[in-house]
Amino acid sequence: MTRTKVALGVSSSIGLYKACEIVRGFQKAGVEVQVVMTPNAARLISPLLFSSLAGTKTIVEMFEEPAGRSIRHVALAREIALLCVAPATANVIGKFAGGVADDFLSTLFLATTAPVLIAPAMNEAMYLDRTTQANMDRLKALGAEFVEAEKGYLACGDAGWGRLAEPEAIVREGLRILARTSSLAGRTVLVTAGPTREHLDPVRFLSNPSSGKMGYELAREAVARGARTILVSGPTGLVPPAGAMTESVVSAAEMEKACLKAFPKAGIVVMAAAVSDFRFKEPRGRKSAKEEIGLSLAVERTPDILARLGRAKKPGQVLVGFAAETHDVAAHARRKMAAKKADLMVANAVGAGRGFGTETNEVLIIAPSGPVQAAGPLSKREIARLIFDRIEALLEKKRR
Ligand code: CTP
Repeated sequence: MTRTKVALGVSSSIGLYKACEIVRGFQKAGVEVQVVMTPNAARLISPLLFSSLAGTKTIVEMFEEPAGRSIRHVALAREIALLCVAPATANVIGKFAGGVADDFLSTLFLATTAPVLIAPAMNEAMYLDRTTQANMDRLKALGAEFVEAEKGYLACGDAGWGRLAEPEAIVREGLRILARTSSLAGRTVLVTAGPTREHLDPVRFLSNPSSGKMGYELAREAVARGARTILVSGPTGLVPPAGAMTESVVSAAEMEKACLKAFPKAGIVVMAAAVSDFRFKEPRGRKSAKEEIGLSLAVERTPDILARLGRAKKPGQVLVGFAAETHDVAAHARRKMAAKKADLMVANAVGAGRGFGTETNEVLIIAPSGPVQAAGPLSKREIARLIFDRIEALLEKKRR
């Protein structure tokens, strides 16, 4: 069996001496470590130190004679189960956030689909600078995780925020992420996302402002946890998540059909779609002039997909619903949870600038019993992670 491999990126913060302990920590847990240093880090400390500790040659240079036919950063990008960058300077964080790939480490970051853990270390002013903070927020929204810097004595002589977190904390977080990469292995997850469109004719429809971003991040998170992931998506302008099987639908009826097909195999269903509640009773195949249509159009209810899945649910299946409300958020979500037989509800307040189409979300996660979990504002990817943590806890409870 091949051992789990982690790439440890080391950049030029004085805290890099602590990276030796990080190498040891991963090794103690049976994880193989390949150290990648930035050229500036290699000016502070010899790569030989890390080569001796890790037992493999530390990579610094981008352009060395290739050992074989493989391109090194691409080959390593595929081999690793985690990219841990500790310490990460403001420069490295900025390069990652901006997609700059001008050395081995930043190229590896772009080339890998493995999870990324970043432990920043720098002077306090640089750490608290709004550009650095914005870069970190961007990386979090894209799925990277952080072990935040601590407050303490800094190399510049100041005491303040910016000190590298303790190696044990970084290794612990790294191992937690590694365990999570297969926490849903062998399971099938069905996620719905986006709005539905209920057409009156080819150019007119009923819909809502859902962007689909929350559902797409949920699908990404399911893939990251090793699940076979089916994403049933209404019309959105989003790039389909890599690794998920995405089925595009338009109407509630089409979404229902796709969900019913996937449901028997799905152990977990997350209904993040904002399904239109109404459709036209008499849709037309051709566009008519507005005078012909008149001012009164008969509508009927669309199928309630979640309620239907709730009725068909088997004991082992976990069903998660969403509730977007403008008021009395928790109360409405509880009512819907009971009516639709969901195991969890994710409720959020929507209205001016909130919920729909935004980059962040603020939610309540509600179960039939127990306290309500409030989360956010956080990036939708971080919210997706919290939702799957709750789902996994629920699966664990069902197993017992
Ligand atoms: N839902 C569904 N099918 C529908 C409507 C909603 O599957 N026709 C699902 C949504 O995907 C969501 C949950 O039900 O997970 C709650 O959606 P929401 O629109 O808030 O609930 P409704 O039952 O439509 O209630 P309301 O009368 O407040 O619109």
